[in-house]
Amino acid sequence: MPTPDRSLETTVGPLTLKNPFLLASGPPTASGEQIRHAFRLGWAGAVTKTIAPDAMEILDVSPRFAAWKDENSGLLGFENIELLSKKDESYWTGEIAATKKEYPDRVLVASIMASLDLDEWQELTCTVQDAGADAIELNVSCPHGMPERGVGAAIGQHADLVREVTRAVRQVATVPLIVKLTPNVTDIVPVAEAAVDAGADVLSAINTVQCLMGIDLETLEPRPSVGGASTYGGYSGPAVKPIGLRIISQIAGELPVPLMGIGGISRWQDAAEYIAAGASAVQVCTAVMWEGAGIVREMHAGLSGYLADKHFTGVAALKGQALPRIGTHASLSRNVYRFAAMGFAERCTSCGRCVTACRDGGYHAISIVDQRAAIERDRCDGCSLCSHVCPEGVIVMLPGVRR
Ligand SMILES: Cc1cc2nc3c(=O)[nH]c(=O)nc-3n(C[C@H](O)[C@H](O)[C@H](O)COP(=O)(O)O)c2cc1C
Repeated sequence: MPTPDRSLETTVGPLTLKNPFLLASGPPTASGEQIRHAFRLGWAGAVTKTIAPDAMEILDVSPRFAAWKDENSGLLGFENIELLSKKDESYWTGEIAATKKEYPDRVLVASIMASLDLDEWQELTCTVQDAGADAIELNVSCPHGMPERGVGAAIGQHADLVREVTRAVRQVATVPLIVKLTPNVTDIVPVAEAAVDAGADVLSAINTVQCLMGIDLETLEPRPSVGGASTYGGYSGPAVKPIGLRIISQIAGELPVPLMGIGGISRWQDAAEYIAAGASAVQVCTAVMWEGAGIVREMHAGLSGYLADKHFTGVAALKGQALPRIGTHASLSRNVYRFAAMGFAERCTSCGRCVTACRDGGYHAISIVDQRAAIERDRCDGCSLCSHVCPEGVIVMLPGVRR
């Protein structure tokens, strides 16, 4: 029987969305045309590529991306050293108005960043909201290029500066205010609190994670190499999802503020995990760059089917469901024990990876006997390493009693 469709409408503070999927600020929202194309495909909202005041010089380098891929060219992690939108304010006011006219039922968020002069933040706020933006997202979180000029993550890493900028924008903003946070801090909670204290209606997280993708060992050029040199960039894509989930759940556990989850979302399952961790909606950037905006169709169908299968009445019913299960290490049970067992022995190719892992990274509990892995239950400490290294999925962790 086909799974019944479940409505995906969601509210994020003052914003109502047809579904929880928005394009995040970045190359997929670099033009009004791209945003309208995405709306046609079913995205409920979009955050423009960050708009800067005309006086702020934005000069991109080339190349500005680097990728870490698996053997099938599937993306694992992505680095960018791209700056803000190169299009001027008048381009954006025209495109915001045109997009809202064509898609009045979608949520169009203007991402903005100005210099340390608070008047500039306020002027830009008025410009984009007068053009018809439904909400404003403050980019205080870009980790490359802009921090050297005192903005981006250089603001987002200091609760006091986040408070100042948010308060200044709040004074003139008549539309909902979103503050986009950087993961490049020791503790996200004080920064999130400062944004909320100063009037943010919604928080979004995460922007990219500061990184150095790699070094070409032939030339010793760091990647991406711009004429032989590079700089620290922003990491995104699947590899950062665990960081985004951690940050969203930490904020959700401490503050009753509506959240948009960002970071490594490419499938409906990723979105569902962010919602279970406390987000009311999600934003996607890298996956759209890699696979196209059409991924929203599968994400929509998948999430809708999942909610129906699990008898959740909607997105709000799933929101935060995992939170009560995330606590301190001390709170975890010491009475639970799982031991490694040959769940699918017939698949074992006696490759020996589990033997090596358990010998050098574990407890000497596995050997090869008659061309199959054999696990000594008394030696197994229940760490689960072997079940992860096994390429055939032979080893399973079964509930048991510690011997
Ligand atoms: C090439 C590129 C450009 C980006 N530009 C912006 C930007 O202008 N403003 C912004 O707030 N975030 C920007 N981001 C960050 C994304 O919006 C998002 O927070 C981050 O990439 C993590 O999500 P993802 O894993 O879905 O890409 C950019 C990301 C990438 C990959």
